[in-house]
Amino acid sequence: MSKQILILIVLLILSGVLVDAFAQTQSFDSHIAIEDPADLSKEDARKIYDDLKSRMGDLYAIADLPEIEGYQSWKLFNDAPYVSATHGQRYVNNYANAIAVNYAILKAGEKLPVGSVLAKDSITVTGDGRIFPGAMFGMEKLAEGTSPETADWRYFMVIPDGSIVGDTTGDNPQLMTYCHECHLAVEDRDFTFYVPEGYRVQE
Ligand code: HEC
Repeated sequence: MSKQILILIVLLILSGVLVDAFAQTQSFDSHIAIEDPADLSKEDARKIYDDLKSRMGDLYAIADLPEIEGYQSWKLFNDAPYVSATHGQRYVNNYANAIAVNYAILKAGEKLPVGSVLAKDSITVTGDGRIFPGAMFGMEKLAEGTSPETADWRYFMVIPDGSIVGDTTGDNPQLMTYCHECHLAVEDRDFTFYVPEGYRVQE
């Protein structure tokens, strides 16, 4: 192999590493929506998620939030990760804990039980093939009267280095006010949107 080709290969490898490092820092600012999410088949999205999920679980666990501990063993309500325009154009999933018994079947005006936790983890997959864990978006139903301004929902966001970006019951609650402002659109479903049609797990 000629020397030039070797140098070229080394340069290509190095630039790949640099792109990855850049992507990683980008992912830490979860407010930046990615511009070119990849258009994956359900099968490919499942595969990418399966490869990454145990690492994602470990990364969110650094935040030490008991509410989302072991969330990957909860019921998953979507049949494949799907792009969520409202959560940074990332591929997301919707998990709910065992207390959230009526999450899938809420009728207008009904509420989820106190202690329900909904966990939406996410992956960034860009059109040019970069893949890395994204933020975890969480909602927890608090005791009645605890947080009237958010209809007793707690909203929080954890990024995949274990930092908590914001928590309506903890640090930087002001960074989470936009969550409820948008979720207000589905007040009659106790402020939950559920899973888009076409991605719902069939009972
Ligand atoms: C601009 C609107 C919008 C904003 C802002 C928003 N969401 Fe959502 N959220 C949605 C929609 C739409 C869905 C359901 C479909 C989807 O996943 O995209 C959803 C679903 C969820 C779910 C799954 C439970 C459910 O069915 O609603 C969680 C958990 C969640 N969002 C948390 C958050 C958190 C935490 C924030 C703030 C950091 C946030 N959301 C900001 C629109 C929004």
